[in-house]
Amino acid sequence: MKKILVLPGDGIGPEIVAEAVKVLERLRADGLEVELEHGLVGGSAYDAKGHPLPEQTLVQARAADAILLGAVGGPQYEALERPLRPEQGLLGLRSGLELFSNLRPAILYPQLADASTLKPEVVSGLDIMIVRELTGGIYFGEPRGVRTLDNGEQEGFNTLVYRESEIERIGRSAFEIAQKRGRRLCSVDKANVLEVTELWRQVMLRIAQDYADVELTHMYVDNAAMQLVRAPKQFDVVVTANMFGDILSDAAAMLTGSIGMLPSASLDADGKGMYEPIHGSAPDIAGQGVANPLATILSVAMMLRYSFGWSEAADRIEAAVGRVLDQGLRTPDIAAEGQASVGTAQMGDAVVAALG
Ligand code: IPM
Ligand code: MG
Repeated sequence: MKKILVLPGDGIGPEIVAEAVKVLERLRADGLEVELEHGLVGGSAYDAKGHPLPEQTLVQARAADAILLGAVGGPQYEALERPLRPEQGLLGLRSGLELFSNLRPAILYPQLADASTLKPEVVSGLDIMIVRELTGGIYFGEPRGVRTLDNGEQEGFNTLVYRESEIERIGRSAFEIAQKRGRRLCSVDKANVLEVTELWRQVMLRIAQDYADVELTHMYVDNAAMQLVRAPKQFDVVVTANMFGDILSDAAAMLTGSIGMLPSASLDADGKGMYEPIHGSAPDIAGQGVANPLATILSVAMMLRYSFGWSEAADRIEAAVGRVLDQGLRTPDIAAEGQASVGTAQMGDAVVAALG
C-alpha cells in the first residue's frame, strides 16, 4: 500500500487537485493500492497554522511514499516577511526532503499544436526533458541578505555555490534519464564567467565517462535561452543549475503553448518524490472553476511511473488525457479562439470517464 500526501495549497490548487484525486480514487476502486492523506502547505497553511510549512506537514511528508502538490502563493501573502511567505513552504519541502532532481518535461501534444506561439514546424513533435537541480545553488546559498554599508547605502547579496557531490548527483540523475530517452544530454552553464559553473562543467565531463552511450554537450545559459526559442527540437535532455532551470523551464513550457498541461517530478536519491503541475496558483482565476486540471492529473501519472514503478496505470492516465483532447474538450487556457470550453470539474470527469 502506497501512502500519498495530498497538499492542495493555494489559488487554483484545491480545484485542480480535487480532479487529480478523482482520478486516483477511480484507479483505487479498480485495485490500485494507494491511500490518501491531506495536509496544509503555503498560504492556506499560514492562514490555518501561522506557518507556510507547519511541522506536521513535514512529518506527514516524511512518512508518505509520494506527495501530490497543487500550487502555492497569492497576492494577499506578498507583504508577509520572507520566511512566512507561501513559497517558503515549497522550498522547505524541497530541501527538507532532499528532492534535488527536478524533472520538467516539455511535450507538445499534437492535438494542441495551434496553442504554441511558435511556428508549427519549429515545435511539432517537441519532447524535451529539463533536469533542474532543486536543492542547491543560489536559491539556498549562504551568506544571503540585505545589509547596510558604511555610507548608509543598502546592498543585497546571494551566493551561488555548488559542491562537487551536488553536481555529481544531479549529473548522474540526468545521464540516467538520457539513457532512457534519446541519449543526448546538454549541460547548461555559464562557465565563461562563473567559477562555480566551470566546476559544474568539469564534473559533468568526468562522470560522462560512466555513460559512454550518452552524447554530452555543453551550452552557455544565454545561448540555451536563444536556442530554446530558435530550434528547440535540438534538445533531448537538458541538465542545469537551480536558477537557470527555473528560467529555462518556463520558456520550454511555453513552447508547447500550454503550461496548463505540463507535470513535474521532484525526486530524492531513492526515487521518493513530490509531484506538481509546472504552473502556479493563478490567483486571477482561482475559485471560478475554469483552471486546467490536466497538468495535475498528468503529475499523478508521473508519480505512478517514477515513484511506484506502475507504468501500466500511468499509461492508462496518459491515454485518457489523450482521449479527452481527441474528443475536443478544452479548458479556456488551451481552447482556440472562438472554441467552446469546459470547466475544471467537467475536464476531470471526462478524464475519469476516459479511463475506460
Ligand atoms: C518553480 C517556481 C518556484 C521556484 C517558486 C514558486 C518558489 O517558480 O517551481 O519553478 O522558483 O522554484
Ligand atoms: Mg519557476
